[in-house]
Amino acid sequence: MNTVVYPGSFDPITNGHLDIIKRSAATFDEVIVVVLVNPHKKGLFEASERVELIKKALEPIGDVNVKVECFNGLLVDFMKEKNAKIIIKGLRAVSDFEYEFQMSLMNNKLDPTVETVFMMTRAEYSFLSSSSVKQVAIFGGSIIGLVPDEIIEDVMEKVNKKIKER
Ligand code: PNS
Repeated sequence: MNTVVYPGSFDPITNGHLDIIKRSAATFDEVIVVVLVNPHKKGLFEASERVELIKKALEPIGDVNVKVECFNGLLVDFMKEKNAKIIIKGLRAVSDFEYEFQMSLMNNKLDPTVETVFMMTRAEYSFLSSSSVKQVAIFGGSIIGLVPDEIIEDVMEKVNKKIKER
């Protein structure tokens, strides 16, 4: 079985991420979406909340070959645990390339049996990132069309709670 792993911070999942998940699910036997803790990024949502948001966003699709998990550690260790050899990453622009190239080389150095496969993001999502979604929400802009409809309320609720706490 061809199992691929789609890792990320997903803080929160965007329509760009969702598109990569759907296309991966249509291409491979099984997709494991894994929320990893990026030590350089301070999150808006807890890792467990991000998992729940991804699951909620996937509900209408009803994809039986997509699983969502959370892991605190090296991606290659998660891959080993799942007996998976392919990492899926989305590429939006040339600016993503250097960072993704570095990560792919590092993962391959840590485990030479692991390959990273890049999927080009669709043009309509090429400007979209979790960070820009958070900025738009914080300053009162509309996030309709940027994140899955199912999680819009959750994101706005969390952002408003954070603003009140300041
Ligand atoms: O969505 P992001 O923030 O670009 O995802 C980055 C992520 C979480 C995939 C990356 O930081 C990661 O793989 N973290 C786990 C730790 C790890 O394995 N690091 C080695 C590769 S540099």
